[in-house]
Amino acid sequence: MSVSNAPQNEPQGASVLLVRLFLLFVFIVLVGMLIPRKAMKGDESQASDRAKQILPASVAIGEDYNQRGQLIERGRVVYNRYCAGCHGIEGDGNGPATERLLVKPRNFLTGAYKFRSTRDLQLPLEEDLHRTITRGLPGVSMPAFPFMPEQEKTAVIQYIKSFYPNWDEEAPDREIVHVPLPPKDFGDDETTELQVKRGRIVYLTMRCWQCHGTDGAGTGASTAVVDTGDKFGKIPPRNFTRARFRGGMTPQDIYRTIHTGLHGAMPPYGGNPDLSQNPILLAMQQLIPSLTDYMHEGELESLAEATKAFPADYNAVMAMSDAEKRQQIERNTWDLVAYVLSLRQGGGKPTAKPNTTPVKPNNGEDYGDDDYGN
Ligand code: HEC
Ligand code: HEC
Repeated sequence: MSVSNAPQNEPQGASVLLVRLFLLFVFIVLVGMLIPRKAMKGDESQASDRAKQILPASVAIGEDYNQRGQLIERGRVVYNRYCAGCHGIEGDGNGPATERLLVKPRNFLTGAYKFRSTRDLQLPLEEDLHRTITRGLPGVSMPAFPFMPEQEKTAVIQYIKSFYPNWDEEAPDREIVHVPLPPKDFGDDETTELQVKRGRIVYLTMRCWQCHGTDGAGTGASTAVVDTGDKFGKIPPRNFTRARFRGGMTPQDIYRTIHTGLHGAMPPYGGNPDLSQNPILLAMQQLIPSLTDYMHEGELESLAEATKAFPADYNAVMAMSDAEKRQQIERNTWDLVAYVLSLRQGGGKPTAKPNTTPVKPNNGEDYGDDDYGN
């Protein structure tokens, strides 16, 4: 019996096992489908709560609200995947990686941004955030995301804005600081030497050396670090001979940085409608001999030709029309940009060609890649 039963029992046992396995499989699939649903639901309502908080009552109805709410929800997913490790789930700059970073990730709750096209202490444009995310910030851990799809960038920008409760209130006050196109001869072989010399004079008269050193590498600087308090902590001024700039390396990027300033880390030198007060305008022939303490030996003589490009004295500055003042400010700034770019180690003459190469992405893996980059 046992011999004849055995072949019958075997397939029976096998099919019971199969049915059980199948039921178990169905169970696992069902549970698997339920769990993420539940988790997502919680997250979604959290994100739409945030959307409600930041939207003015008039917008919080109908299409606009739904669209923006959806965008913020999508942005939340992107943010939690790529940004929260450093900037923190709550946007407060306290992600798990922060402890190991010398330059702390931005705290998005404060609304304080350094790399903007807007006037001092104002919120950045969405375009500025887009640039920071796409190019990253060289010298610090902030990675570049050149391949992130545009939709995800738009969504994550919307999401990080939502961390700052006064965004909608303050955004309409933003004023763009004008950045013109570089002059046609910028970086030309024939003109570079003179541009750099004039830029050197602007650098000295504007006292950039107080923070960046008389040679742009920190030598003789009276300010070793700028203390921005809770905002960004203590920041050493950039060393122009070795660092890549976070706000970008194109002539226009550097022009913008000088005029907008860096939200307390560096003063703004443009954007003030009162042109007569603009320190960029106040480089004058009369001042130049008094700056020899900050010059190399024999430098004053070598700058003699370049000196002629500046108004004689304060009266000559004040006698200029607004258009002339504006022109002089622009010229002085381009010369200053040429000078700053000329300091890069290994020479490198300034170029008017925009540098479109994205900053090397580190995909956030190497959280320790951070040397202050000053
Ligand atoms: C590996 C760490 C790290 C990751 C990941 C990271 N960041 Fe950053 N981020 C930083 C640091 C550090 C700073 C501050 C740099 C400074 O102050 O010079 C910063 C600054 C910023 C700023 C402020 C720039 C300004 O103008 O002040 C923005 C915007 C930003 N990050 C967006 C993002 C977004 C969006 C993501 C994800 C897609 C992201 N970051 C991922 C480290 C990181
Ligand atoms: C009060 C000190 C101070 C003065 C004065 C100052 N800077 Fe700066 N500058 C800084 C600090 C600090 C940084 C670095 C900011 C950071 O890392 O976030 C910086 C950074 C820069 C950068 C690089 C920004 C980037 O994108 O990475 C440029 C370019 C620059 N300064 C140019 C100038 C010029 C030109 C002048 C004179 C007109 C000047 N600075 C005057 C403190 C100063």
